[in-house]
Amino acid sequence: MSCPICSAALFAKPESAASVKTLSCDANHCFDRAKQGYWNLLAVQQKKSKDPGDNAQMVSARREFLNLGYYQPLAQALSLQLQKTVQPDQSANILDMGCGEGYYTAHCQQQLENHQFFGLDISKHAVKAATQRTKAITWLVASGANMPLKDSSIDIMTVVFSRLMPQAFADKLKTDATLVLVWPTDQHLIELKQAIYDDIKRSKYDPAAELDALFSVDSVTPCTFDFTIETAHDLTALLLMTPHGQKVNSQVRESLTNQLPLSLSFSVNIGCFKKR
Ligand SMILES: C[S@@+](CC[C@H](N)C(=O)[O-])C[C@H]1O[C@@H](n2cnc3c(N)ncnc32)[C@H](O)[C@@H]1O
Ligand SMILES: [Zn+2]
Repeated sequence: MSCPICSAALFAKPESAASVKTLSCDANHCFDRAKQGYWNLLAVQQKKSKDPGDNAQMVSARREFLNLGYYQPLAQALSLQLQKTVQPDQSANILDMGCGEGYYTAHCQQQLENHQFFGLDISKHAVKAATQRTKAITWLVASGANMPLKDSSIDIMTVVFSRLMPQAFADKLKTDATLVLVWPTDQHLIELKQAIYDDIKRSKYDPAAELDALFSVDSVTPCTFDFTIETAHDLTALLLMTPHGQKVNSQVRESLTNQLPLSLSFSVNIGCFKKR
């Protein structure tokens, strides 16, 4: 790992400690490990707000919904993609950028135990929650724009429903590395959007275009399935997690509840990109 202030290498201090509690660089910038086991490598001067990233409520909503298992097929498809991407006999450095509370990171790590996983998110609440999933992952509170990792050190970076920072990603990836992105198609949760909005705007989000100067598309694989929300509890959990859910008024909520069990479309793309 590298110092988020001066980019120099971080060393364990003292070097002989069985369980490392402090990292420091040659310029003596020091970082303590939180008692939950994660590293807070977000330098104060990089914070644009006091509490950046997803807040505690958003994190607990996401954790609650994902723990219900509805999105497990994506976790499986993603880990299958990683299994196909790693080189045989290689112990890869795999970084989940914008890992949130670690649902997908932990699932992938379980399927690829011989590899070194990092989960990075700017939200302290998210990373704190992620440490409860597993200690087998190095969890980092840090900015995706200034990742405290050596340049050209990552073999695979996953970015699941998270922001693109093309230059920052390219810097940390090795020459032949793979960037694996998951992003929603227009059909994702379309039934919810139809219930909530009078006029559904087509998404203009095109990651291939955004990445084009630095990355080329290797493959795009759809991951689509229908799932059925059975209970008002599960519907509330989903609404609290999605940005659409924040826009639901009581009338729409009642109408959706009356439609239970509610069949919904899950529709995302899993794209693999290579550095140019
Ligand atoms: C929609 S959530 C996705 C979380 C997780 N990948 C998942 O699918 O469950 C987006 C995540 O990106 C994080 N985030 C936002 N800006 C970030 C940044 N500049 N660097 C790192 N993470 C960031 C948020 O805190 C949030 O946890
Ligand atoms: Zn430093």
